[in-house]
Amino acid sequence: MSDSNLLTVQQHILREQLRFSGASGEFSFLLSGITLATKIIQAQVRRAGLVDVLGEHGGVNVQGEIQQKLDVIANEAIVQALTSRASVGVLASEENEEPMIVHKGDSEAKYAVVFDPLDGSSNIDVNVSVGTTFSILRRPEGAAGDNPEAWVLQPGTEQVAAGYVVYGSSTILVYSVGHGVHGFTLDPAIGAYVLSHPNMTMPDRGKYYSVNEANADSFPDKYNKYLAGLRNGQYGTKYSSRYIGSMVADFHRTLLKGGVFLYPPTADNAEGKLRLLYEANPVAFLAEQAGGVALDGKNRMLEVKPTSIHQRVPLVVGSKAEMDDFVALED
Ligand code: AHG
Ligand code: MN
Ligand code: MN
Repeated sequence: MSDSNLLTVQQHILREQLRFSGASGEFSFLLSGITLATKIIQAQVRRAGLVDVLGEHGGVNVQGEIQQKLDVIANEAIVQALTSRASVGVLASEENEEPMIVHKGDSEAKYAVVFDPLDGSSNIDVNVSVGTTFSILRRPEGAAGDNPEAWVLQPGTEQVAAGYVVYGSSTILVYSVGHGVHGFTLDPAIGAYVLSHPNMTMPDRGKYYSVNEANADSFPDKYNKYLAGLRNGQYGTKYSSRYIGSMVADFHRTLLKGGVFLYPPTADNAEGKLRLLYEANPVAFLAEQAGGVALDGKNRMLEVKPTSIHQRVPLVVGSKAEMDDFVALED
């Protein structure tokens, strides 16, 4: 890419914002809070091993999971960056039991941001890709400032924007405001996210499936039938497997190369492991925008009506062809 066509994410967001009626700049300022925070997070991730950010923090989050130091650092980076955006009224994070009300639910504050500050934390200490996911929702008509649940318990179809950052061999931000999916690579020399993957679309079919097969004994039958079909060539190609254990990284590969990523119900997690609001929904939004499909195992993920902030859900997401094959199987 030559410097003459270098387009930063800030310029891109300003352009996308023109699609919103009455755009005032506040939405792009909100998104710039996310890009700023993820630059801070990536700087910490890149220095892991040199500074004291590896290992356990000593706390346990609302999911009963041990918090890693970087989980806490990443959470604070996002909370700090977004509380300084006047348009943000509610913040809900994987790391906080309750959603936070910011700016006292002021009428200027129109958006809720729901996020997983650091996804794939079991991979931090071993230098494997981790990520951040986010989903932005508009304050529903009439939702009281002191009732943050009403702001965030909306189906994924209501997302005004969603995305993720993957801290991999490079740092890549992928986002959508509902008009296609665009990817930006952080250029460390200039500290800016630069458009590297415009108008991303998933291939119609891929060659990888991605699932934690150690849980296969307790998957519902349909999942095992499907996986067997992927392995034995029933769907036209003999699939190979890839599983990182960071949803963001596993999804990023699926977005670029096609194929399917699954986190089915298991004996330990009867509702699946992944969280609807800040893991499954952003990924489902991006998948659909890129021509793919995302289901909760049965229904369209984006239409699932959330009942609680940290609710879990099974996730099957992938290219159109793989998803058609999955749907064609009987329960
Ligand atoms: P988090 O680190 O935010 O808690 O998320 C971990 C999630 C997700 O990234 C990944 O897809 C999944 O856990 C992996 O789970 P298993 O180790 O059960 O395969
Ligand atoms: Mn996660
Ligand atoms: Mn997390």
